[in-house]
Amino acid sequence: MGAYIHIPFCIKKCNYCDFFSLPLGDQSYLDKYTQALLNEIKIRGQQMPSVQLESIYLGGGTPSLLNGKQLKSILQTITNEFILLPGAEISLEANPATLDKIKLAQMEEAGINRISLGVQSFFNDELTLLGRVHNAKAVMETIELLHTRGWKNFNLDLIYGLPGQSLDKWMQSLKQAADCHPSHLSIYLLQLEEETPMGKDVADGRLKMLNEDDEWYMFDQAMEYLEGKEFDHYEISNFCRPGYECRHNLRYWKAEEYLGLGAGAVSFKNGGRFMNEPHLKQYVDTLSTCKQWPVKELERMSERELMTDALILGLRLCAGIDLNQFKQRFGVDITSEYKEIIAYYRDGGLLNIVNGHLKFTKAGYFLSNQVLCQFIA
Ligand SMILES: C[S@@+](CC[C@H](N)C(=O)[O-])C[C@H]1O[C@@H](n2cnc3c(N)ncnc32)[C@H](O)[C@@H]1O
Ligand code: SF4
Repeated sequence: MGAYIHIPFCIKKCNYCDFFSLPLGDQSYLDKYTQALLNEIKIRGQQMPSVQLESIYLGGGTPSLLNGKQLKSILQTITNEFILLPGAEISLEANPATLDKIKLAQMEEAGINRISLGVQSFFNDELTLLGRVHNAKAVMETIELLHTRGWKNFNLDLIYGLPGQSLDKWMQSLKQAADCHPSHLSIYLLQLEEETPMGKDVADGRLKMLNEDDEWYMFDQAMEYLEGKEFDHYEISNFCRPGYECRHNLRYWKAEEYLGLGAGAVSFKNGGRFMNEPHLKQYVDTLSTCKQWPVKELERMSERELMTDALILGLRLCAGIDLNQFKQRFGVDITSEYKEIIAYYRDGGLLNIVNGHLKFTKAGYFLSNQVLCQFIA
């Protein structure tokens, strides 16, 4: 399995982000949270001691806010309670404002072997618009530090389609990112979330989103550029050097099981989806005082729901879905079950069947949500 560990704290909330995280005012709260997390890991480990982990992903929020001691204790407890397979991928999401030489050394010592850096843009005006706590200089210094310390396996996150962003500026950021020699690049189209400061600025007319054609052109140009630089495009928003796919995220897209640890984290096991208590104080109190795992079942999925889930997740992968393997796993022949939908989008140039794989075309990636909705319906 893979384990996802949620660290729901940031220095401050960015203007566009509605991920479950809160500004960390009181540093000592991180210690309390870590202690609760350790208790959860112990309880869950006792429940399923034979679980073998091939990936761990510390996400957030901003897990790079953890200090060396906290990080070490989390990974040590995981190693004690579960079976951590040799060569397991251990990723950590980091904000450039939180990394320095000492922090990186502590991460290396704790066993982190993959870093995902939230860069978003190489332009200060764009970083300000996004409400990031770092500037472009801090990004470059952090990447230089990664290189100096011999890090090869690191990802850079970028966001495109910002209000007022030109194609030229987006491509400059992308080129600069590629020039930093990351093993992996995630490029996300800005999702406007209503309840964020940016969502409100757009609703009140202070900011204007780009039109869809401009957004599509930015994505199209990015695909072409990164292919020219020999990045493998392996998932709609993700590109990597050969062999450097994020193994943990691949589990999600392949609809494989995972454990979610920490407040609000979701687990997927035995056809059920479970969510940990998302209320921070309740999560911490329950684990610290009652030593109980605060969790509730979100849904018990039917065979049909599991199949649809695997279909819409698997289609996000550029390799598409192996029709034979899918039939073996779910007993369903996709091409006859969804004959009309597939025919419609094949004719429209968004879907294709190549060598026994159902996959999106390049034009289809950008409109994937629209197509996937039809499969769910
Ligand atoms: C949990 S954050 C990564 C680590 C760290 N918190 C940071 O931002 O530096 C994961 C990524 O999601 C992306 N993201 C968050 N909100 C988004 C939005 N509304 N639209 C597009 N991408 C978003 C950002 O690129 C961000 O780096
Ligand atoms: S983008 Fe990252 S740093 Fe910004 S609020 Fe979201 S989780 Fe926190």
